[in-house]
Amino acid sequence: MANVTIKAKENGPLLVEVDGNIVSKLCRCGASESKPKCDGTHAKIGFKAESSEIKIG
Ligand code: FES
Repeated sequence: MANVTIKAKENGPLLVEVDGNIVSKLCRCGASESKPKCDGTHAKIGFKAESSEIKIG
């Protein structure tokens, strides 16, 4: 079974990692023009949020 981790980066997107490899970066600031993917807009709008992570499997 693959090891899946979802990491919320400080002031940034949700990183989906499978077996230690980032497979997707998902927007959590709501401003991306490429939802659900992060396009880097969070940095331009000054998005602030704490980091956290969960492991699945
Ligand atoms: S988190 Fe990066 S654009 Fe929203």
